[in-house]
Amino acid sequence: MSSKDIREKYIKFFVGNGHKQIPPAKLVPENDPTTLFTSSGMQPLVPYLLGQEHPEGKRLVNSQPCFRAEDIEEVGDNRHTTFFEMLGNWSLGDYFKKEQLEWFWEFLINELRLPKEKLYVSVFEGNTDVPKDNESYEIWKSLGVAEDHIYFYGVDKNWWSRSGEPDKMPEGEIGGPDSEVFYDFDTPHDEKYGKECHPNCQCGRFLEIGNSVFIQYKKTKNGLEELPQKNVDFGGGLERLTAVSLDNPDIFQTDLYMDIIKKLEGISDKKYETENKAPMQIIADHLKAATFMIVDGVEPSNKLQGYILRRLLRRSAIKLRQLNKIISLNILVSMIQIILTIYNKDGQTKLVEKIVTDEINRFQKTLDHGLKEIEKIEKIDGKKAFDLYQTFGFPFEVTEELFRQKGQQIDKEQFRQEFEKHRELSRTASAGVFKGGLADHSEVVTKYHTATHLLHQALRDVLGPEVFQKGSNITAERLRFDFSLNRKMTEEEIKQVEDLVNQKIKENLKVDHMIIPLDEAKKMNAIGLFDEKYADKVSIYGVGPKYELDPKAKDQRDRAGYYSLEFCGGPHVEQTGIIGGIKITKEEAVSSGMRRIRAQLVS
Ligand code: SER
Repeated sequence: MSSKDIREKYIKFFVGNGHKQIPPAKLVPENDPTTLFTSSGMQPLVPYLLGQEHPEGKRLVNSQPCFRAEDIEEVGDNRHTTFFEMLGNWSLGDYFKKEQLEWFWEFLINELRLPKEKLYVSVFEGNTDVPKDNESYEIWKSLGVAEDHIYFYGVDKNWWSRSGEPDKMPEGEIGGPDSEVFYDFDTPHDEKYGKECHPNCQCGRFLEIGNSVFIQYKKTKNGLEELPQKNVDFGGGLERLTAVSLDNPDIFQTDLYMDIIKKLEGISDKKYETENKAPMQIIADHLKAATFMIVDGVEPSNKLQGYILRRLLRRSAIKLRQLNKIISLNILVSMIQIILTIYNKDGQTKLVEKIVTDEINRFQKTLDHGLKEIEKIEKIDGKKAFDLYQTFGFPFEVTEELFRQKGQQIDKEQFRQEFEKHRELSRTASAGVFKGGLADHSEVVTKYHTATHLLHQALRDVLGPEVFQKGSNITAERLRFDFSLNRKMTEEEIKQVEDLVNQKIKENLKVDHMIIPLDEAKKMNAIGLFDEKYADKVSIYGVGPKYELDPKAKDQRDRAGYYSLEFCGGPHVEQTGIIGGIKITKEEAVSSGMRRIRAQLVS
């Protein structure tokens, strides 16, 4: 079965069971400072899992491209990737365990035609706060799953939240016990991973293919509290489901990777076998992830998403060099077209190729420089090897190999210790990114979010209606807003925009949330980014019901009496006065025709 068939069957199956298909979110979340990338289908749905009404109803389904930076070191084992497509379905306080487990089982058995003897399931064993999930156990048994195919595990395996186990969940985080399904490839057990094999064993015999999370808890300062509604959040990797439909444990041999691997064999002049497999899997995964990031607007840089993109491209280049030392690294660019064709995104080829070419050429220079540096070093220890990894992106094995040629041995343990120290630091740094996000509905981020809407409209009033939002990113410290304009703003214009936003804040305008048909929202002249592919009802926010058109404003569009009216999922403050005030701290160019404003709250 092809991946396309599986994707289509899944969506059709759940639409047939009363779900509405919703469009996937971008890989880089808009207006969500809680994370750098969309890493699961539920991420954009957090406000709705918490109880806000979703325009499309209580049953949703989609296919979501995801990126998980934390899996970067796992790639190369046949089944892990940083980029993957997650098939997801959700119940927002509607159906619960019975329907979810029955439907997913029916999908696996009747639609994918997987033999039931090959399937194992896991269920939450309970702890002092949350009871054992006997209900799911009974449901699996009633579906014909043999008792010895049902395993109980604790919070380390059968609990899901974006931050992991309950103890690790920050206040405001949602999560719950889950029930997973595994496929048995029946490969021999490797005792290196433990005496007995079981579904969560890492020896490669079992592959997790779907996770039904019963999101019914929220972390508060008093511990876990029941949410007002019981939700289902299901996610299953399309790459893995395709692999099991072929009974092949290597996801890189599915149609989602096969052509990439073939191309790689061609350019590196190596076969996809034995020691070449891991580097080839890493290149295929990283280049695919990089391609999707670039399509969604990321460019290589030394910060945030741009840094991750840079790391992916450099790692691909280093792995290519490992496969073949004499070919030019920018031959990697020839793989972009193949990747985009798999996803019918050929139209983006030129853009992606240009960005990858520039970055790889830049890296080629760094690499040459780094190799010269290495030549100069007398003795290299683990710490030095780590410095080279940090500065030039040389993985340990590359440095090791270069010194083996010089007859030196490097202390891997010392390298590992430096690596761990650094990993701890990056965790702390990303915790900073996570702080106070929309997903937690933190007060400060919500204020910034409403201020962004006011800013958008104020820019249009001062500069003209050709100004339009191009991107937005909010943290607890500032807002950043990208918009179309092909010139620098004058000091006076910046001041006018800032004054106008502050005036609207001072007027203490009311903020209204409406869920209405798309046509109606368009008639009301709502602005903003939306995807009308599937939506028949949309969520919009209006600020300032008492607003009257200002004759001096350049944007003379009535928005049904609101000052600002935008397509948006929220959340927002109830009255603009709560925002206090803003100060524009910077206005700069992003690219041709696009400007960026940074602003901070002032009280
Ligand atoms: N959110 C869960 C996961 O990512 C299920 O969708 O596994």
